[in-house]
Amino acid sequence: MPDPQSVLTHRVQAALGAALGTEYSDADPVIRPSQFADFQANAALALAKKLGRNPREVATDIVAALDVADICQEVEISGPGFVNLTLSDDWIAAETTRLLDDPGLGVLPQEAQRIPIDYSAPNVAKEMHVGHLRTTVVGDALARTLEFLGHHVIRQNHVGDWGTPFGMLIEHLLDVGADSAQAHQLESDPNAFYQAARAKFDADEDFAGRARERVVAMQGGDPDTLHYWRTLVDLSTTYFNKVYRKLDVTLTNEDLAGESTYNDRLAGVCAELENSGIAEISDGALCVFLEGHTGREGRPVPLIIRKSDGGYGYATTDLATLKYRIEQLAADRILYVVGAAQSLHLRMVFDTARAAGWLPPDDSVEPIHVQIGNVLGSDGKILRTRSGEPIRLMTLLDEAIERAGKVVAETRPELDEDTRAEIARDVGIGAVKYADLAVSHDSEYVFDFDRMLALNGNTGPYLQYAVARIRSIFRKGGFTPPSQAGTDAIAAPVALGAASERALALALLEFGPTVAEVGSTLQPHRLCSYLFGLAQAFTTFYEECPVLRAEDAAQRDSRLALTALTERVLVQGLALLGVRAPAQM
Ligand code: ARG
Repeated sequence: MPDPQSVLTHRVQAALGAALGTEYSDADPVIRPSQFADFQANAALALAKKLGRNPREVATDIVAALDVADICQEVEISGPGFVNLTLSDDWIAAETTRLLDDPGLGVLPQEAQRIPIDYSAPNVAKEMHVGHLRTTVVGDALARTLEFLGHHVIRQNHVGDWGTPFGMLIEHLLDVGADSAQAHQLESDPNAFYQAARAKFDADEDFAGRARERVVAMQGGDPDTLHYWRTLVDLSTTYFNKVYRKLDVTLTNEDLAGESTYNDRLAGVCAELENSGIAEISDGALCVFLEGHTGREGRPVPLIIRKSDGGYGYATTDLATLKYRIEQLAADRILYVVGAAQSLHLRMVFDTARAAGWLPPDDSVEPIHVQIGNVLGSDGKILRTRSGEPIRLMTLLDEAIERAGKVVAETRPELDEDTRAEIARDVGIGAVKYADLAVSHDSEYVFDFDRMLALNGNTGPYLQYAVARIRSIFRKGGFTPPSQAGTDAIAAPVALGAASERALALALLEFGPTVAEVGSTLQPHRLCSYLFGLAQAFTTFYEECPVLRAEDAAQRDSRLALTALTERVLVQGLALLGVRAPAQM
């Protein structure tokens, strides 16, 4: 179902062709929301310049050719040549009524692309830091949204499961025993294990020697060593999964595609790049030098793909990974939801793939770095514990739930404990996730429990509360909440009287284009802003327009229909963000 802006774009475009000649029939009519009407078409100004004509005259010609009698109640030329367009109430009402029967709520399925999304990617035997929290939450929201738009999403959890630290980690595992309490700490507090191994490595020459030999055995494929390596990876995976379940993200073991997955391909990638002259030996290391990547004094910065000792690194793995995603996963767009600090690294990897011809020259396959900004503490520095250690993610999430629980205990003492615990979980986790998503993904933000849990402002709990309030209207009226009752629960035609009804209906029609916009810009915060605006439009409507006590049955049913749609859009929108809407609050 086309939204207002698309419909108007189409109509004004037809008028451009008719008024100015067919060469203008696909010119952009520049339809924008307007202060003075619903929308305005700004095309006349730029086109007049091109035609060497007076812009108001051009606007007059466009309006003369414009056929919008069935959708607009007013068309007016204003200022130097803007065309103000006011949609007719009947058209808005009819389109909104049609939404009631649409399970997609106005979201149009797009031509399906194959989209691997690289997100979360924590490191084995290490704590996930808040940066990992954010890539996990943003990546998951993008995965859900792109799937809803009809794309084929392939989740790729590129966990750090290979490299030299495994030498000391395996030796430490052998020292303490794979079944020991220390080893099982990896399932709940991985840092403790890592730090113990590290301390021994730094203090004990003999241990450090064993660790180094272990790395060689691991790289040589020694079966015993690989067995212990697997044990470490499995214990860590248990921890990651605990975090994922608590966070309510969609990642499972099926989505694991860690660095080690690509080990067999590294030598081939190096050989290919060396043979094609893209990589060359410099100081014993195999390096790629790329145009446009120069450091101090204009010296080219190398991307090292094989160290002088023959070892491969992070960049080599990423090259093999990208090649795999292009060729084996047949990707159209490849998303890297990764910290902004890695942007130079990823740019060099992408440019190397382009130079190697893995990426087609017509840009039909697009690797995209969805940059993740830092999460800061109240001191403006990267969020850490007071003693400077990385914060245990579990502790952070549990604190959010606990704080939400305190509020629920105060506001809803009459509910039984299980129900309260469920609400606290949905609200606490929803608040953390929403706060992460509501800020543009590449900006930093300060982690602040009080602000993210606030019941007003652009927060998760505010939107969850809006849903709960609407559900209680339905319960009071004796209906099942619409998002649970299916699409045909309420199908009364929408009729628009009050200005706030009209504004709410228009906002509802914007859900489809907003989701499409998130799919193309990869910016979930736009959906947050939209949902916040919708909830506010509903509040104004609900203050002005009695629903259950409307004047007559037709008015009541129309208002119930608007209320039902609002609930469905809010619940669906939150679901795309990975935020649950509790039945009550
Ligand atoms: N494991 C890395 C880290 O913790 C992130 C990996 C991101 N993905 C990638 N393909 N490089 O920083």
